Amino acid sequence: MILPIYLYGHPVLTSPALEVDLTDPILPGLIQDMFETMYAASGVGLAAPQIGRPMKLFVMDASGFDEKRFAHEKRVFVNPIILQEEGEPWPFNEGCLSIPDVRGDVLRKPRVQVEWTDQDGKRQLQWFDDMPARIIQHEYDHLLGKLFVGYLSPLRRQMVQRRLQSIQKGSTNAAYPVCAASPPGGRPKR
Ligand code: NI
Repeated sequence: MILPIYLYGHPVLTSPALEVDLTDPILPGLIQDMFETMYAASGVGLAAPQIGRPMKLFVMDASGFDEKRFAHEKRVFVNPIILQEEGEPWPFNEGCLSIPDVRGDVLRKPRVQVEWTDQDGKRQLQWFDDMPARIIQHEYDHLLGKLFVGYLSPLRRQMVQRRLQSIQKGSTNAAYPVCAASPPGGRPKR
């Protein structure tokens, strides 16, 4: 099932996510819905707060970025912890499904060591680099209630300010279902 993606301005996107109960029976279906929602929106990562659930959970499929190099980077991260980040920060023009049509350069370190629980309930520990590392850092930020626009330079930030305000009011051309923070009509649409 394709779920609406919560837009910039919604409080769930700026609240810290909570630990996931691995025995929660909704989990398998939720993970499936998150992949479906992410693919429908042509994304390469999606965090649970983006579908309105403040849970420490995100999905990633980096093959959407480069089919050959990242063919095996389709993963589920439950209760992830970034243990280490290393290397010289590199810029990439990031976007976010919760902030349609806004992009901006963000500096992040190229390598991360992550500990997480996978879709089979197994605890994993691994280093990632390149785009998978970047996606993990971006999605992990969502679990902390942080959005990439928080990293933009003051000038860039000023340039996208009006756009952010209109997204907050629910004005977007996103080609996928959304849930706006405060649409002009009053009640949030679902
Ligand atoms: Ni995002």
